[in-house]
Amino acid sequence: MLTGKELPFVKKGFSKSEKLFKKKNALVANGISTLVPFFIDEARGAILKDVDGNIYIDFYSGIGSVNAGHCVSTVISAINKQSEKYLHTCFMITPYEPYLKLAETLTKVVPIKDDKKVAFFNSGAEAVENAIKIAKAYTKRKGIISFSNAFHGRTLMAMSLTSKVKPYKHEFGPFASEVYKVPSAYCYRCPFGKEYGKCSMECLDYIEQFFVSEVDPSDIAAMIIEPIQGEGGFIVQPKEFMLGLEAICKKHGIVFIVDEIQTGFARTGKMFAVEHYDINPDIITLAKSIASGIPLSAVVGKKNIMDSVGPGRIGGTYGGNPIACASGTATIEYIEKNSLVEKSNEIGNYIIRRLKKLQKENDYMGDIRGLGSMIAVEFIEKNNKKPNKVLASKIIKECIKNGLVVISAGVFGNVIRFLPPLVITDEQLEKAMNIFEKAINKIQ
Ligand SMILES: Cc1ncc(COP(=O)(O)O)c(C=O)c1O
Repeated sequence: MLTGKELPFVKKGFSKSEKLFKKKNALVANGISTLVPFFIDEARGAILKDVDGNIYIDFYSGIGSVNAGHCVSTVISAINKQSEKYLHTCFMITPYEPYLKLAETLTKVVPIKDDKKVAFFNSGAEAVENAIKIAKAYTKRKGIISFSNAFHGRTLMAMSLTSKVKPYKHEFGPFASEVYKVPSAYCYRCPFGKEYGKCSMECLDYIEQFFVSEVDPSDIAAMIIEPIQGEGGFIVQPKEFMLGLEAICKKHGIVFIVDEIQTGFARTGKMFAVEHYDINPDIITLAKSIASGIPLSAVVGKKNIMDSVGPGRIGGTYGGNPIACASGTATIEYIEKNSLVEKSNEIGNYIIRRLKKLQKENDYMGDIRGLGSMIAVEFIEKNNKKPNKVLASKIIKECIKNGLVVISAGVFGNVIRFLPPLVITDEQLEKAMNIFEKAINKIQ
């Protein structure tokens, strides 16, 4: 059994994994692709062990789903305890207490300042779909605004709100109607050619202009944005931009939805990213790290908005499954008891320090950005800012070969993102950055 304190060790070959990949290729649809050359056997803390016994440091946390670490003992106990009582009844028919317990916890920790209510679903995309349904019912309007570089999921509405064409949208249209895209504040590649700090937030002015040329704001039900665009490349939205969007929504009676599916639960050095912005969203969508890897998502919103949808109009067979809710409550308790918010900042500061030092000797490292331990670096071509996807992919491959699992992001695929579990040890963190540094020095 892993202790979670191990260090990487990739010397045992891949014979068992290779056999499993043959089986995967025969059985699993091509669209379900995989990144690493191994199958997993065990995971604990920030450590992964493959079926051949090789050990890796996890720097992607199941794409941001295990902020509290793999297999937290109190989470496992809560899951086991609940599983001995009942696995499923369907809350909409026969309700149960674990649903209420987690809902109560979320109303305490989610930073919406008004009275709140909660609804549970299964995936991030499903939370987004339902947040939009609620906003439409509340406003009796049809239009939705989302942003360039956004990712909100793979179901029809969520995909329509999403920005990256390949692989997420190509050939999957037609998309949901009345979805409008406006530019996000991607300051490193400002769509208005400006420089942050010297600009006058042309990205905000654009929206008012857009209300004249494209759609009247009275037709818009909701605006949805990730405070740090995750899949889009960890693009941190500036405070002025988020405050400006909130003001636009308020002025026009538009429901302001903040998607915290990837940024939530201590990832950004606050329990939720909106705490960096002093905004008060109408609705927040949550998933991923809410339940340490058990499928669960939530829509948390202002009471009057949430209650605008009548009985039976939202829900789902499994939404708020009791095992998932028990896991969620135990996960949040663990995050709070173990000060993972503070830990998130410490980890992030260390990663940034190492990256900035590396950048001094490397012409291919562009923008280094992030909040807390949601950190990314853009790889670019020498002497210009053109995205360098090939280099990023090679570095990722080399890291994995040496026992560090990192993944890419960005509409151009040239961003490497760092999302370690927040329980990573100092020794593992140092080792991880050593592997990354070695990979860069070898590949560039
Ligand atoms: C910000 C954001 N929203 C929504 C989703 C979709 O979540 P899921 O894959 O659970 O449907 C993701 C997933 O990466 C995400 O990062």
